[in-house]
Amino acid sequence: MSDFVYRTDLPLPGRRQGKVRDLYELPPDPAGRSRLLIIATDRLSAYDVVMPTPFPGKGRLLTAISMKWFRWIESRPALGLKHHVLSTDPADVPVTPGQQTSLVGRIMIGRHTKVVPIECVARGYIAGSGWKEYQKTGMVCGIPLSKGLRQCDRLHEPIFTPATKAEVGHDENITFEQACGIVGERLMSRLRKWTLDLYAAAHDYAYRRGIIIADTKFEFGHVLDGGGRPTDEVLLIDEALTPDSSRFWPLDRYEPGRDQESFDKQYVRNHLETLVSAGRWDKTPPGPEIPQDIVKNTIAKYQEAHDRLFA
Ligand SMILES: Nc1ncnc2c1ncn2[C@@H]1O[C@H](COP(=O)(O)OP(=O)(O)OP(=O)(O)O)[C@@H](O)[C@H]1O
Ligand SMILES: [Mg+2]
Repeated sequence: MSDFVYRTDLPLPGRRQGKVRDLYELPPDPAGRSRLLIIATDRLSAYDVVMPTPFPGKGRLLTAISMKWFRWIESRPALGLKHHVLSTDPADVPVTPGQQTSLVGRIMIGRHTKVVPIECVARGYIAGSGWKEYQKTGMVCGIPLSKGLRQCDRLHEPIFTPATKAEVGHDENITFEQACGIVGERLMSRLRKWTLDLYAAAHDYAYRRGIIIADTKFEFGHVLDGGGRPTDEVLLIDEALTPDSSRFWPLDRYEPGRDQESFDKQYVRNHLETLVSAGRWDKTPPGPEIPQDIVKNTIAKYQEAHDRLFA
């Protein structure tokens, strides 16, 4: 597949660009609900740097994975959680038929919410920034963990480790109490329960299909009322339980005591590490062009994650 979307420029208001997604505002639907168009492009970021090379098909695979999890959440009312998506139909986007065609499979039209400025992270294994913190303090986000854990060990039970949503640069881990200081304890208690319940259920589902979801990040937002003011109704927003928002490890290769192969970006990371060792890149923007065989292998991994989980 050679068609790709690296950057969009649609004649719609409110354009914003994240690392991977382009966002626009849509007029309210007939029920008066304000709407956001979220387009998953084929950009890939590694070490928080967006690569200049497109990964054709990645945006569609990410959207497919998120949407399948959202439908899965709908089928589990015991979670008590609602998501933001209203439609995935390009016909609902007021642009030309040609532009609509380029959006097939890569959009979510969601309720436009006021984003809660806390990244809600659940960890069932000790890796990444959690592992770094644990080695220094024996704790992650103020939660003491048992002694003697090895890198990537499974935890006795999943923990909730919130982080600030940094506008630029890396997010910073904070304690539950600090998160309560920012958005209030009542809201944080709800978000913690949703995050842990959803993570536990999704982990078990994926595990049975040969994928370990080691940790994952959720975002939540307040539904806006007719006047654009945030209400008490909170939805799961953004993407959910994808290889971009989570650490996916192949179960059959899992071995604590070392770094695990990430399901999706391992080829890109390995390539980048060789550039870094050779002094040809220093993990700051701009990122280097990525060779096509690495692009192909990476896309195959996203596809494999999708198929293992949902085929
Ligand atoms: N329903 C929604 N209402 C308001 N904002 C939303 C909604 N869904 C997603 N968003 C926002 O859209 C953006 C998605 O873009 P993208 O994932 O590229 O962002 P990013 O934050 O740069 O990347 P990363 O996920 O690595 O932090 C995020 O800022 C997210 O908070
Ligand atoms: Mg994001």
